[in-house]
Amino acid sequence: MAKVMLISASITIVFGVILVLRLRSGNLDTIFDTGWGWAMLIGFLASIGAFTTGLMTSALAKRMVALGGAIAGRAPTPEEGAEMQSLSTRLPRIGRATAVMSLIAIGTMAAARFV
Ligand code: HEM
Repeated sequence: MAKVMLISASITIVFGVILVLRLRSGNLDTIFDTGWGWAMLIGFLASIGAFTTGLMTSALAKRMVALGGAIAGRAPTPEEGAEMQSLSTRLPRIGRATAVMSLIAIGTMAAARFV
């Protein structure tokens, strides 16, 4: 699942940038004179943010699975218990941040032609 998400997010961002260049080639210097340009910038930054937190989620989830495997069949040490606790607090938080940034990207992109 993580691989599929990574590939689809990369394709979305790369083709989004290509789309901007195709739509505005020749007048990129005036892109920020328009609401469209600003909407694209905000959407782009939100996409990069979502991509970054998505990568963080993947890394933390991998760590959680590895830790879960290491403590299977025995009681965790206090350090392992604390790390597991910290991971289970951070993972949903980072997941929510990814969702919010993705929603910002969708909203700004869909609204771009109207602003
Ligand atoms: C999380 C990643 C992204 C999502 C979810 C997303 C979503 C969308 C949506 C919903 C639209 C509106 C389509 C329509 O009106 O029919 C759109 C349009 C567009 N997106 Fe994205 N996008 C993403 C990333 C990017 C990136 C990184 C760029 C490049 C900076 C980009 C460039 C564009 C362009 C140029 C349009 C056409 C805008 C127009 O109506 O003139 N997208 N995108």
